[in-house]
Amino acid sequence: MDFNIKSGNPEKQRTACVIVGIFESRRLSPAAKAIDTVSKKYLSNLIRRGDMDGTKGQYLLLHNVPGMIADRVLLIGCGKEREIDDRNYRTIIANSIRTLNNTGSLDGVNYLSELPIKGRDHDWKIRQAVQIAEHTLYEFKALKTKEKKNRRPLRKITFTVPTRRELPQGEIAMQEGRAIANGIKLTRDLANYPSNICTPTYLAQQATALAKGHRSLTVEILEEADMKKLGMGSLLSVSQGSARPAKLITLDYKGSKKAQKPIVLVGKGVTFDTGGISIKPSPAMDEMKYDMCGAASVLGTLAAVAELGLPINVVGVIPAVENMPSSTATNPGDIFTSMSGQTIEVLNTDAEGRLILCDAITYSERFNPGVVIDIATLTGACVIALGKHASGLLSNHNPLARDLLNAGDESGDRAWQLPLWDDYQQQLNSPFADMANIGGREAGTITAACFLSRFAEKYHWAHLDIAGTAWLSGSNNKGATGRPVSLLMQYIINQTK
Ligand code: BES
Ligand code: MN
Ligand code: ZN
Repeated sequence: MDFNIKSGNPEKQRTACVIVGIFESRRLSPAAKAIDTVSKKYLSNLIRRGDMDGTKGQYLLLHNVPGMIADRVLLIGCGKEREIDDRNYRTIIANSIRTLNNTGSLDGVNYLSELPIKGRDHDWKIRQAVQIAEHTLYEFKALKTKEKKNRRPLRKITFTVPTRRELPQGEIAMQEGRAIANGIKLTRDLANYPSNICTPTYLAQQATALAKGHRSLTVEILEEADMKKLGMGSLLSVSQGSARPAKLITLDYKGSKKAQKPIVLVGKGVTFDTGGISIKPSPAMDEMKYDMCGAASVLGTLAAVAELGLPINVVGVIPAVENMPSSTATNPGDIFTSMSGQTIEVLNTDAEGRLILCDAITYSERFNPGVVIDIATLTGACVIALGKHASGLLSNHNPLARDLLNAGDESGDRAWQLPLWDDYQQQLNSPFADMANIGGREAGTITAACFLSRFAEKYHWAHLDIAGTAWLSGSNNKGATGRPVSLLMQYIINQTK
C-alpha cells in the first residue's frame, strides 16, 4: 500500500473517496462541516432525515456530493466525540479502511487521522493509522490457487494533518508507521506458513535474505556441529528428535557507534511443537506451527529497524528447531548440560521453549548487551492468565519492565507484568540435576520465566510471553497478529530519543 500525508480542505481533494467522521448524536466533525458548507447542507440534511446518527460501526457512502471534486464521500460513525480513546480510534480507522476497500476506490483521503484523542499528538495518530490500515487489509493468500483477485484494489491511502505546519513531522510518523507495518507483515507471513515450508532452514534463509537487502545488517548461521562445539546441549536436546537440522541465527544491526551496547532480542523459533515424547493432544495441534512467532517477531523488528536506519545497535538471536517425537528424541528424565554449564533434567519434553532459549540467552553474552529481551510463545498458562489481549512480561530489572510496559501502552500492543519473585524458584528443584525444566501446575508462566532468569543473571533481561497474543484461533480470523513487533519498535524508537 502507498501512504501519503496531506493537509488541506476536503472539497479540494482530487481523489476517489474522501473519508470524514460523524459523531454521536448527529454531529459533524470539522472535515464533515467543511463538506456540509460547500455542499449547501447536503450532509446535515441527510443526517436530519435519520440516514445516520454517528453511532460507532455506522457508515454511509455518498456519490456526487455537490461542491466536491472527489468521486465519493464516505461518512464514518465515530460514537461520542469525547469518548474517542486509543482503542476506539483504532476501531474507527479499521472500519473506515475496510469500508473504503469495499467501495472500489483506488485511493482515498482519510480525515479521521484528525479526530481528537486525549493525550495523543498528530504523530501518534498517523503512526497508528498507517499500521492499522496495513493490518486491516492483510491477507495471507500465498498458498491459495483459486482466489480471484480484486480487480480494483485500493492502492493509495492519504491521511491528513490539520495544517501545513504538521506536515514534516507527519511525514516522519508515516514513515515510522509504514516501516513497522512492513515488519509486522513479514512477521505474520512467516508465522502463517506451515511447518513443512517454514522450517529452521527456511528461517535461516529468510534472515540471510533480509541481511542481503540492508548494508547495516549482517547475518550468521550456526549449524548443529557449531552449537555442539559451543556446548549447547540444552538447545540440541530439543532438536535431536527431528530430521530437520537446528539453526542458530544471528542478525546484527549496526546503526550506532561500535562501542554502544546493543539491545539483544532473542526469539523462540520452534517451527513445530508436537510436544516431543510428552506429545500434545491432537485437537488444534496445527496451531503449533505458530510456535516460532517469537522468532518471526525478531525478524520483523530487525527489518523495521533497518528500514528506518535507526541510530542504535540491535542484535537478533534466533534458536530455530523442530520439536518431534522419534527414536532419537529426548525421553522424560534425560539430563543435559546447557552452554552455561548448568545441568537440566527434562521432565517434560513439551517444555522445550525454555530449553532452546536458555542456550541462546547464554550465547548472547558475546554481544555485550545493554539489555536482553526474549520473545516466546512459551506457556499455555499465559493464555489462561491474560488471554489474547496482553503479553506476559517478566523481568529482573524494573526500569526495563517499565520501559516495555510504556512502549506497549503507547503502541497499543500491550503487556502486563507478572512477578519474578525468588519464592517461585524452588518449584524447579530437581533431585538429579541443577534444575528441572518444569515447575508444576501452579504459576506456569512465572516458573518458565524463573527457569530463564537463571541464564540471564549477568544482564538486564526481560521476557515477553506471547502465547496468547501472537496469533488468533478460530476459523474466522485465524492467523498471526504480528505482535509484539509494534511494542518492540516503540521501545527501540524510544531508546533512540
Ligand atoms: N509452545 C507451547 C506453549 C503454548 C501452548 C503456546 C498453547 C500457545 C498455546 C510450549 O512449548 C508448551 O508446550 N508449554 C507447556 C509447558 C508445560 C509442559 C510446563 C504448556 O504450556 O503446557
Ligand atoms: Mn511445548
Ligand atoms: Zn513450544
